[in-house]
Amino acid sequence: NKGNYEHYMQKEIHEQPESLTTTMRGRLIRGGSCKAKSVLLGGLKDHLKTIRRSRRIVFIGCGTSYNAALAARPILEELSGMPVTMEVASDLLDRQGPIYREDTTVFVSQSGETADTLQALHYARENGALCVGITNTVSSAIARNTHCGVHINAGCEIGVASTKAYTSQIVVMAMLSLVIGGDTISNQARREAIIDGLFDLPNKVREVLKLDQEMKDLAKLLIAEQSLLMFGRGYNYATALEGALKVKEVALMHSEGILAGEMKHGPLALVDENLPIVVIATNDACFSKQQSVIQQLRARKGRLIVMCSKGEASLVSPGGSSRVIEVPLVEDCLQPVVNIVPLQLLAYHLTVLRGYNVDQPRNLAKSVTTQ
Ligand code: UD1
Ligand code: BG6
Repeated sequence: NKGNYEHYMQKEIHEQPESLTTTMRGRLIRGGSCKAKSVLLGGLKDHLKTIRRSRRIVFIGCGTSYNAALAARPILEELSGMPVTMEVASDLLDRQGPIYREDTTVFVSQSGETADTLQALHYARENGALCVGITNTVSSAIARNTHCGVHINAGCEIGVASTKAYTSQIVVMAMLSLVIGGDTISNQARREAIIDGLFDLPNKVREVLKLDQEMKDLAKLLIAEQSLLMFGRGYNYATALEGALKVKEVALMHSEGILAGEMKHGPLALVDENLPIVVIATNDACFSKQQSVIQQLRARKGRLIVMCSKGEASLVSPGGSSRVIEVPLVEDCLQPVVNIVPLQLLAYHLTVLRGYNVDQPRNLAKSVTTQ
């Protein structure tokens, strides 16, 4: 049921404040006078010791689910102090890459049925690794075959392009980082700030959804373009990859997410006054580096659309030289949840304006169950 919406993708984008609330329900503990704020993931509590004792954590997924894991990697590394590596499921299988008994493997999948991810799960089990699932579908093959896991509880997602599952996956993996990180005194303030940020996140997403009309206006400007680049780094490298994936899969426009730190190693050659480039430059530890990327792109007359934190337009677009998208500032590791929303809206409006099928893009399936 699409309710008042024209398309499922549109409905699923707009229901993210609610889906995120459901994802966190019963899992965040407010704390009190003598009790610290904390996170409870019922599906993991009996396995935390094994996870903490493992040698590394390996995230495995495809498409949007892979991007969600990439968004969560920095906070998991920071809070756990463990090495965290990334695997595209098909590539792990192609290489028969090394997976050991001492590894914790984490399988991220909305449907829980993706063939490559499921195959990689069988492979990791055969190699003796602990297998953890992050899935949206109870009783799916991946949920059943993992040793333990967390349901993201985002509700049924119908649009082929994943939107609300992406943001719920990131939130679950941020919560996962908090529980694996444990309750060491040294990062207590950081942990509490993230938990406060999680409580407030649905409100911030509600706020960023107000950019809908602005994104529609931007889509009108980009409707006839051949290509759109997205530059991100740090927590928002994943945002650049996921924003570009949305644009290419539904709007059928070439789009590429680029790690801004790699700009000089190739992408800079593409920059001219015609090619539109989205630069994600919200305020975090990478901000000054991103400001310098903006300067260098501008020096080559790049046609920039800059995403920045509210009130900071003048820091990224001196004299109003570029179009800006201002988004609310949240805790750095949760910023990808906010930042993807305008890009989901942009991809949605671009698709509708270009006259393509937004819920069922040509050649794509919601769940890829063959290899
Ligand atoms: C569970 C209940 C929830 C109830 C809550 C109350 C289910 C599905 N969930 O939620 O209805 O409100 O207790 O305490 O009954 N699992 C995997 N692989 C996965 C995902 C999950 O093995 O990919 C396992 C978990 O380890 C766990 C079970 O499935 O044993 C349920 O996981 P989850 O729904 O995340 O647990 P709770 O949040 O505790
Ligand atoms: C397909 C979907 O390609 O599979 C994507 O169209 C999705 O939206 C990808 O990200 C992975 O699916 P899942 O269910 O394993 O998360």
